[in-house]
Parts: sequence; structure tokens; C-alpha cells
Amino acid sequence: MTSAGPSTGDDAPQRATLRLPADAAGIAEGARLLRGGGLVAFPTETVYGLGADATDAVAIAALYAAKGRPRFNPLIVHCPDLATAQRHGVFDAAALALARRFWPGPLTLVVPLAPGSPVCDLARAGLDSIGLRVPDHAVARALLAATGRPVAAPSANRSGRVSPTEAAHVHADLDGRIDAVVDGGRTSVGVESTIVACLGGPVRLLRPGGVTRQDLATVLGAPPASGDGDPGETPLAPGLLASHYAPRAAVRLDVREVRPGEAVLLFGSFRPAGLDGQARLNLSPRGDLAEAAVNLFGMLRALDATGAAAIAVAPVPAEGLGEAIVDRLQRAAAPR
Ligand code: TXA
Ligand code: MG
Repeated sequence: MTSAGPSTGDDAPQRATLRLPADAAGIAEGARLLRGGGLVAFPTETVYGLGADATDAVAIAALYAAKGRPRFNPLIVHCPDLATAQRHGVFDAAALALARRFWPGPLTLVVPLAPGSPVCDLARAGLDSIGLRVPDHAVARALLAATGRPVAAPSANRSGRVSPTEAAHVHADLDGRIDAVVDGGRTSVGVESTIVACLGGPVRLLRPGGVTRQDLATVLGAPPASGDGDPGETPLAPGLLASHYAPRAAVRLDVREVRPGEAVLLFGSFRPAGLDGQARLNLSPRGDLAEAAVNLFGMLRALDATGAAAIAVAPVPAEGLGEAIVDRLQRAAAPR
């Protein structure tokens, strides 16, 4: 259970982090820990999430501390199905149509909070809206069903760092700070969910992700409006800070000429000038964006681990799933 021990040097107490198998026993143990207020990382189809009982403000406070996440950044609440999600959020016609088409799947809907939802204020960072998602992953859904509570789950990385697509990434960032990781292997989408706000007024795309803008348009009849609304307005997705997904190394984008000592991230058959023995990985040699999304965060971590001062990234097209990939790369490259 949550064993508060010696300090980790910040406000997160030391916890012994169990590695749980993604079988019935591991899922039962993960659910038991979550119900007891623990912090349990688990696989989804996008990235690993760090779960906590969304109705338990003490557990949610511990989750923010374990990630080092600012408390103004609300969490996505995960549910096993649409009917459960409707206990926590009010779905208008657009939200219902999107949920019916894309759930379970890599889509988060930001909707008005339902009266009587037991999700605590802290999980929503005090907003009167809530981000809801039904993941398309057998282990995630079994864990959610067994827990029987709405589970808040941000990506299971230290705040601002690269999102985890395998259990080893979670251990690298959060060992000793969380109670368990359910190891379900590599994730199948690789970038986080698309976040769409249905708050009355035009449907807005807050974060590109696993469901593309074109996919959304097939349901909405037109592509969603972009971004956070008018400049100066309170941002709708307070977590979308410019600098994010940051490896230790600097990141340079759209590179047509590599510098000595850089590590190189390629896409497709394009070869920048100056390639000469640098560490290099290819997101997808055949230029497939779905494959590139799956590889993105793991390859950023691997190139970072070479110790190179900078990672040079070849051009990636910003179409379809490429919009989410380029979004994450731009945040990784943003000034810190
Ligand atoms: O694929 C995913 O979405 C993963 C997996 C684990 O489900 N989760 C994830 O969570 O990416 P996180 O915390 O890294 O990103 C959640 C984003 C943040 O940018 C946050 O600001 C936004 O969702 N968000 C959550 N609730 C919101 C709300 N009520 N209004 C606006 N934005 C919200
Ligand atoms: Mg995240």
C-alpha cells in the first residue's frame, strides 16, 4: 500500500514500486492499490497513465507530487465505458456522437461537469469542466472495471518530460515515487489522446492526438475549430505548455543538415546532409505515420540516452497522425 517513507528530496514520499504482470492477479492487485489511495501506472493504447482514484483528493494530491505536476493542470478521468463517463460529464449531441464513434479509443472529451459527480475538485484543477476518456486497451479497461472508481491518469512521466510508451520508461521516471506499474508491453498508438472540448459553442480541438482532425470531421461534418479560443482568454487546456515532452538534449526540427555530435532522428527515406557516424534512429523507414507515432517517444528517450547535446530531427509531414507527432516535436524543441 502507500508506504510513506523517507523523502525523495521534494514533497513526494518514497514508495516501493511494484512491477505487476498484466494478468488477472496483477490487475486485481493494481485495483486493490488504487482503491486504497495508491498510485498505479498502467498501459493504455496511447501512453502509460499514472492512475489514482479521482474521487480521493489525498490520492490526487499525491499524484501531482509524484509527477511534480503543477496543480493548475487538470487530469483526464478514465472510465470503462460511455455510460460510466456520463455520470461525470454532461454530453451534448456533438460529444455523444464523438464518444459513440471513437470510444473506446484515443479521444478525450472535455465536457461540463455532471452535477453529483464524485470526482474531486483537485483532479479537475477546480474547473467546472471535466476531461473524460474510455481507453481502448484490455488491461486498462480490466483495471478500471475492477477498481470501480473513476481513475485520473496523466501520462506516467515526470512533469514536462517525454511520455512513456513502455513500463521501463515509467520506472526510469517514477521508480520509488509510485506504488506499482502494470507491465502491459509497448503501447500501440504511441502519442496521447486527441483532446476535444464540447462545452457549447463550436467544438474545439485542444490537443492533436491519436484521432486525427480528419477523423473528427467525418463525425462533426466539418473539422473542429483549433486551439484555446481568443488570446487572453483562460486557456481551455491549461496543461498545454509550450515546453513539454522535453528530453535532456536540445531538439532541432526540420533539419536538412546535421551537425557533428548531434544524434539524428530520421523519417522515411530523406537523408539530411552531414550524416557521418552520428547515433541515428528512423521513426519509420517506410514513411508510415502510425509507425512513427508508436516509435516517437521511445526513440527520443533512446537518442537522449546517447548523451548527445542535441537531437536533430528530419522533416515529418504534419498531416493526419503527423499533426500530433509534429505537435509533440515542437513542444520538445521549445525554449525551456
Ligand atoms: O492519451 C492520453 O490522454 C494519456 C493517457 C494516459 O490516457 N493521458 C494524458 O494525460 O496525456 P496528461 O495529463 O499528460 O494530459 C492531459 C491534458 C492536459 O493538457 C490537461 O490540461 C488537459 O488534458 N485537460 C484535462 N482536463 C481538462 C479540462 N477539464 N479542460 C481542459 N483541459 C483539460
Ligand atoms: Mg502528459
